[in-house]
Order: sequence, then C-alpha cells, then structure tokens
Amino acid sequence: MAYGWEGERVRLVPLDKGRHAANVQLWMNDPDLTGTILSGDIPLTRAAEDEFFDKSSGHPDAHPSDIVFAVETLAGEHVGVAGLHKINYRHGVAASGTIIGPPEARGLGYGTDAARVRTRYAFEVLGLRMLVSEVFAENTASLKMLRRVGYREVGRLPRRFWKRGAFRDVVLLVAERDAGQ
Ligand SMILES: CC(C)(COP(=O)(O)OP(=O)(O)OC[C@H]1O[C@@H](n2cnc3c(N)ncnc32)[C@H](O)[C@@H]1OP(=O)(O)O)[C@@H](O)C(=O)NCCC(=O)NCCS
Repeated sequence: MAYGWEGERVRLVPLDKGRHAANVQLWMNDPDLTGTILSGDIPLTRAAEDEFFDKSSGHPDAHPSDIVFAVETLAGEHVGVAGLHKINYRHGVAASGTIIGPPEARGLGYGTDAARVRTRYAFEVLGLRMLVSEVFAENTASLKMLRRVGYREVGRLPRRFWKRGAFRDVVLLVAERDAGQ
C-alpha cells in the first residue's frame, strides 16, 4: 500500500505533529536556512509550530488554500516540507515553497524530487495549471532545482525584500501545466 505521493527519492506525506513538528521548528530557527528564504526571521516558538500543525490537522477542506506536505526519504527519514500556498481553484494557480531542513540532506536531489512530485500533484491531482515561485537571486540551489523541474524565470523584482542587511532582488518563476504542448 502506498502512503502519500512517491517520487524516485522522496515521498510527500501528510503532516504529523508527533513526527514532524519538532523538526520543522528546529529548521525554521536555523539562521543559515532562514537566510535563504523570504520569510522566517522572527523566532518560531514550539507553541506556534504546534498551533500550525493543529490547524492543518482538522477535517480536510475540499478546497484548502494551503496544502503542506512533509518530505520524507523513501526510507522514511523526515528531511523537509513542500507546500502549495494561496491556492486559487478558479484561476488554477498556487504559490510553491520547499525546504530541505538538515544541511547534510541538501544537494542530494531530495528538493528536486519533492518539487517534481508536488508539480505532478498540483497539475494532475488538483487540476491546477500554474505554479509561481519567488526566490532570492542569490539562492542558486533553489533556482537550479526549480528550473530543473520545469519552472522558468518570468521576471525580477529589484530590491524586493530586506534580508540580512540588504534589500535583495527576487526572481519570479512559473511552471505551467501546458507549457510543453
Ligand atoms: C533549495 C532547496 C530546497 C533545494 O533542495 P536540495 O535537495 O538541496 O536540492 P537538489 O539537491 O535537488 O538540487 C540543488 C542543486 O543546487 C546545487 N547547490 C546547492 N547549494 C548550492 C550553492 N550554494 N551554490 C550552487 N549550487 C548549489 C546542488 O549541488 C544541486 O545541483 P546538482 O544536482 O547539479 O549538484 C534546499 O537546498 C533548501 O531547502 N535550502 C534552504 C531553504 C531554501 O532555500 N528553500 C527554497 C526557498 S525559495
């Protein structure tokens, strides 16, 4: 029996407070990690993280505006989170975000595989048609990962966000379901 959505290296599974909350809270307080993402500079307490997990563990809405998966290796190790946010079912559009938490788990292809499985889920299961991602121009790993799974750059917002002492450029990327047809 399969559990969640499986790729070649990882599986996207439902969030489980007991299994995933402590890890996510740990990762989201790692300044090296939060230095690379748009959000995440305010201390995230365990209580706030638990509240987030509690909120997402209610009876599932048929059209949730956010769907966040835990990313686990095929061996069952929790290595990250991958989400679809601000989902708009009428327009068929969502924002996407990915975190591979433990530094030693990065650069092993987990992010790429998670993004690929998430895109397939968004397009084939939810019926969405476009995913949008905003990434700091310095975030080479994220840009590489997103381009590899079919996102393309559509614009740059100069000095969009303050991060660690400077206003930094953001790259806007989209993946479209029918782009190749
Ligand atoms: C971005 C992220 C999700 C990518 O996941 P990952 O599992 O590390 O990615 P992959 O291994 O699939 O691919 C990343 C690629 O970037 C490369 N890379 C990693 N760090 C890099 C760096 N600092 N400079 C250049 N290339 C880098 C990797 O070598 C790999 O390329 P390769 O397969 O050709 O060797 C992950 O690194 C991460 O969570 N980073 C911190 C949070 C973050 O930036 N999230 C995205 C916010 S928009």
